[in-house]
Amino acid sequence: MSACPESVDILVLGGGGREHALCWKLKQSPRCGRLLCAPGNAGIAEVARCVALDVTNPKAVVDFVAANGIALVVVGPEAPLVAGVADALRAAGVPVVGPSAAAAELEASKGFTKDLCAQHDIPTARFRRFASAADAHHYVAVHPLPVVVKADGLAGGKGVTVAESNEEGLAALAEIHGPVVVEQCLEGPEASLFILTDGETVRVLPTAQDHKRLRDGDEGPNTGGMGAISPSPRLTPALQAQAMERIVLPTLAAMKARGTPFQGFLYAGLMLTTDGPMLIEYNVRLGDPEAQVLMLRLESDAVELMWAAATGSLGAVDPVWSKDAAVTVVMAAKGYPWRPVAGTVIDGISAAEALGCHVFHAGTKRSEDGRLVAAGGRVLNITALGHDISEARALAYAAIRKIRWHGGHFRRDIGKTA
Ligand code: AMP
Ligand code: GLY
Repeated sequence: MSACPESVDILVLGGGGREHALCWKLKQSPRCGRLLCAPGNAGIAEVARCVALDVTNPKAVVDFVAANGIALVVVGPEAPLVAGVADALRAAGVPVVGPSAAAAELEASKGFTKDLCAQHDIPTARFRRFASAADAHHYVAVHPLPVVVKADGLAGGKGVTVAESNEEGLAALAEIHGPVVVEQCLEGPEASLFILTDGETVRVLPTAQDHKRLRDGDEGPNTGGMGAISPSPRLTPALQAQAMERIVLPTLAAMKARGTPFQGFLYAGLMLTTDGPMLIEYNVRLGDPEAQVLMLRLESDAVELMWAAATGSLGAVDPVWSKDAAVTVVMAAKGYPWRPVAGTVIDGISAAEALGCHVFHAGTKRSEDGRLVAAGGRVLNITALGHDISEARALAYAAIRKIRWHGGHFRRDIGKTA
């Protein structure tokens, strides 16, 4: 435990819209010293120094931190955590926001999390684990419908199939290499619950809601997320309290009892069933694009908050959140999520921001002649605050009209039904 220094040199790991939002918020703090981001992107380069670094190599990260006098590391995506980057940093005495590899199993292995739920009576879909697709074949062939087939490990959001027929379930199974989890299908609206913990104190973040499907009206394939709103109108304070009591707090207690306490951001994907909230999955990080709306609503000093979370002093920091609502609309490159087209030129960001929104960059870079070009699937996150969701959404869509980019597409209904 230690008080936050007056000036903290910070390294953020990641290079998407979530990390741009984190860097943007950290940079506003008077305590933000040098701000570095690996690998970053063209938008992050406006607030931080972007550096090339193998973020999934624990030794490379520790060496870089030592050589550059970094005092705090904030990890955005799951891959460095699963690779043990937070363990290596903690062993080297560097404060870090993000769990150990052992605690990151909550995201890295669905089977691990399902077993933990079974052992501690945490509500989740009934399930069975199998060592391989072949072992699961008969079970999937005769399972009542719909049947949910999941790859056990990290699959970049592509490892889950909700199959309406046993044939479809078997086809999904055939694509999986490695262990499998087969689940009962839950019904109800989905919502996400976010917390930040230093291993002892738990701070509940505002609720948020992702829009995972590619097209308006929740049609089309699942994506990493095409937009988000905060607060979520679905996750009422009563349901949130119930989910904390029955799901998140027992999980944190179980992780502590195993000797692998969780530290960092934890995000529970929930299904709000008629039997109450049930756990679909955990992520051991902030969601993307949920982080963009959450960072916009954070009123407290982000450096003090992250420092406290990384040094076991979160008991002394209770973050304040704006009463305003936030909406972010993802602009993706044409072809996303299959084969996004790279290199198309984007203009009009300053005009969009002049309306009062924030344009966070996800996949962008500068071309050789200095123009902003698309360099990923999800490319921009047009993010706005308002007194309510409808005001925030009106501003975000007004800003989108200022952006001149022929290579992009976006959903027109983010936050519409909220
Ligand atoms: P996951 O990668 O575990 O978040 O799953 C992706 C999506 O699949 C979730 O957001 C849900 O829409 C759906 N899903 C996963 N598990 C279940 C389940 N047991 N019942 C119904 N839908 C599910
Ligand atoms: N928006 C979903 C995720 O970050 O996994």
